[in-house]
Amino acid sequence: MPVPGKGVLLDSKEHIAQHAQQIYQQAVVQKTMPLGNMTNITDEERAILGKWFEAGAGVN
Ligand code: HEM
Repeated sequence: MPVPGKGVLLDSKEHIAQHAQQIYQQAVVQKTMPLGNMTNITDEERAILGKWFEAGAGVN
């Protein structure tokens, strides 16, 4: 499978852990992801992601 733009894959726990900071920045702080909010993520769901990150971004 080709690696998408910027080489970021979020297909496994390892990927999520590796890119936690970027996930937080893109989906919680800047809200630029999901692109065009095609998946209709809610502010509540963004807040849950924020709590996940602030609690250490655990993946296990
Ligand atoms: C909550 C869901 C999502 C998360 C956490 C997420 C996260 C990310 C991250 C961390 C990057 C790397 C950007 C950077 O570090 O500069 C990225 C890039 C990108 N994502 Fe997402 N993404 C999500 C949903 C989506 C969806 C639904 C699409 C498409 C419909 C999408 C399309 C893209 C594209 C095209 C890029 C490359 C952007 C660029 O080159 O500047 N993402 N995403």
